[in-house]
Amino acid sequence: MAEERTYIMVKPDGVERGLVGEIIKRFESKGYKLVALQLLPTSRELLNEHYCDLKDKSFFGKLINYMLSGPVVGMVWEGKDIVKTGRRLLGETDPLKSAPGTIRGDYCIDVGKNLCHGSDSVESAQREISLWFPNGVLSWERHNVHKLI
Ligand code: PPS
Repeated sequence: MAEERTYIMVKPDGVERGLVGEIIKRFESKGYKLVALQLLPTSRELLNEHYCDLKDKSFFGKLINYMLSGPVVGMVWEGKDIVKTGRRLLGETDPLKSAPGTIRGDYCIDVGKNLCHGSDSVESAQREISLWFPNGVLSWERHNVHKLI
């Protein structure tokens, strides 16, 4: 059976602050496999689709404007229980509730600038991966990574 995948996005503040490498490092160090990566400016159309469940929230306009403020880095990561574990690596949505050691817990303080997005379920991940990577993602095999040498 195919490994679980999730969509992780470094938001404009994370790109601007030079935290892309740090965020990638946390997923790589944990043992997850990168299968897609892109730096791109977002568009209102993509964001409206990505955040379609939130359109009635009071913060929706602010969220969209923040996401339009600069490029984002979108990634697809693969591995065991990646959706749940990926969100644990990111920390809580509100950085002030995020434990030290998590990405948000270590690097931010404002829910309106919380550095990164992670899919909240396997179904959301599939929808978001299709939205942001319409041409599909790479399948590749890792050899020896978890073997003792
Ligand atoms: S909710 O209200 O429970 O549906 O929201 P939540 O799941 O916690 O968050 C959904 C996304 O909205 C962002 N968010 C905010 N942005 C700006 N301002 C405020 N106050 C705010 N509250 C939540 C939050 O970061 C989530 O975005 P992603 O990209 O999924 O992290």
